[in-house]
Amino acid sequence: MNRRRIFSGIQPTGTLHLGNYLGAVQNWVALQNAGDAECIYCIVDYHAITIDYDLHHLASLTVDLARDLFACGLDPEISTVFVQSQVPEHTELAWVFQAACTSYGELQRMTQFKAKAEEQSFVSAGLFTYPALQAADILLYQATHVPVGEDQVQHLELAREISRRFNSRFGNTFPEVRPLLTAAPRIMSLRDPDKKMSKSSGEGHYLSLSATQEEMGKMIQRAVTDVGPLPDGSMGSGVKNLFDILQALDDRGIYDQLMAAYREGHLKYVDLKAAVADAVCRTVGSIQERRLSFSPERVQELLREGADRIRPQAEETMATVRERIGLADL
Ligand code: TRP
Repeated sequence: MNRRRIFSGIQPTGTLHLGNYLGAVQNWVALQNAGDAECIYCIVDYHAITIDYDLHHLASLTVDLARDLFACGLDPEISTVFVQSQVPEHTELAWVFQAACTSYGELQRMTQFKAKAEEQSFVSAGLFTYPALQAADILLYQATHVPVGEDQVQHLELAREISRRFNSRFGNTFPEVRPLLTAAPRIMSLRDPDKKMSKSSGEGHYLSLSATQEEMGKMIQRAVTDVGPLPDGSMGSGVKNLFDILQALDDRGIYDQLMAAYREGHLKYVDLKAAVADAVCRTVGSIQERRLSFSPERVQELLREGADRIRPQAEETMATVRERIGLADL
């Protein structure tokens, strides 16, 4: 029996923040530790260059991100963690998919492309064909389950379509790809709690996993809570966000206590903020402690080992693909 195979990717666009951790990485670690699936996690640097980026920082962002992933609990003995550009078959298969299995119209319907294109002064062709590279990432390893957020579901549907089209035209080669959506909370900006927490919104919006305890305390203290209850009487977005963070950090006792106080109408936001700051500082503190045990040199070595371990599978898939699509075998 084949074990389930899980694949996911993350772009090296900056150091991890609490939203990345609670929304994605914590789940990657849980899937790894559940032990019933082979887990492959990829830092997708070829995706990162499809939008404006700083070439002088790309390499260090890549290593820093890997270091954070290991610090968050990805175990290189159990999961394969590697960098996309270390396995050139990703771009090779992406080309085959773009050239023969993906329609222009399908790519035109991608909402993420439209959103990103609006923010770029130079809209590259690669930004447009990005979903074909994403499909190649997954299918190169015959992965079936892909833990992602809601915003990636459209890309995975396209990956499934690409796989089907390849199979029907060239013979059965790739599995069906399925998103693994989890109950992970969508953590919002501390300053603008109607928007997703993101590094691109700027200082004060996101809680970096590299922040000091003092910085984290201050940022939480200043978090916006005066977005009043919604017209239907439900909780305002800022307060809800703080409750979501608290709940995700598994402080059940305190969460229940404060939620009861909220329901009875006597919750003091300072108490909520103090509890959130305490929970965040403890979780992030232990991640930071673990990060110290991975030197940047060790991280690079682990990434090389990850790529070396996984490369033969990519080569095997590509060899099959070349043959099936009719390229000359010289
Ligand atoms: N597009 C994904 C994102 O922006 C990153 C990604 C690239 C990915 N390749 C992947 C995610 C393959 C899952 C599987 O979040």
